Amino acid sequence: MRSKIVAGNWKMNNDLAASKALANGLVEGLKDKNLTNTRVVVAPTFVNLTSVKEVTEGSVVEVAAQNMHQAKSGAFTGEISGEMLTSIGLKSVILGHSERREYFGESDALLAEKVTAALANNLEVIFCFGEVLEDRKSGNHFAVVESQISNALFGLEAAAWKNIVLAYEPVWAIGTGETASADQAQEMHAFIRKIVADKYDAALAEEVSILYGGSCKPGNAKEIFSKEDVDGGLIGGAALQATDFIAIIEAIQ
Ligand code: PGA
Repeated sequence: MRSKIVAGNWKMNNDLAASKALANGLVEGLKDKNLTNTRVVVAPTFVNLTSVKEVTEGSVVEVAAQNMHQAKSGAFTGEISGEMLTSIGLKSVILGHSERREYFGESDALLAEKVTAALANNLEVIFCFGEVLEDRKSGNHFAVVESQISNALFGLEAAAWKNIVLAYEPVWAIGTGETASADQAQEMHAFIRKIVADKYDAALAEEVSILYGGSCKPGNAKEIFSKEDVDGGLIGGAALQATDFIAIIEAIQ
């Protein structure tokens, strides 16, 4: 059975003290909850990964990075390699977030390299993709999503997919307060599962967790998560408050 996952992307928020406090709030708030088949992941900034890892040690909360460089090592000032992430005990990395694509020019081809490098370091990849508003308005959203997924992921062997989590994040819904409706999310997630099944096989597609991201909050999470092809969420703004994030986690139970 595929896992349900609620992942919090803290983006460039929270200094050391705030990161530890938020992590601690999650550990405390979740310790008596019985989460069935549900993983909880948080992605702090690079500098706070180790501290958050220490605070969450022994709890249900897993820690992921928000990005990594594709090279093993070398003269890439300011960058972080997959090997460095595994060396501090990380098991997952977010790649392809729309902010990376838009503000840092990350292309599908670059992301394909990053995915390969992450998998080579035994990191699970939470791979983000999604259309911008014009694509949705012109009815191009399925084609855009298909090309983002196929360009970055369809070169992978079937066996590699056990370490891939997909995160559909329509760009027009990220941080805007506007969310895709539960039906829009389900329609896209079913489409994604179909293209993965067509490329590989139905059993593999059934096992892939597909998260929704974009203004997901306590008030709308339950409806979105109730859809059969929505296996959880990638949460931005609402992941910055322990109570909101925990309410979203509870919405998936
Ligand atoms: P948001 O961000 O929940 O603030 O819309 C989601 C994301 O960027 O992953």
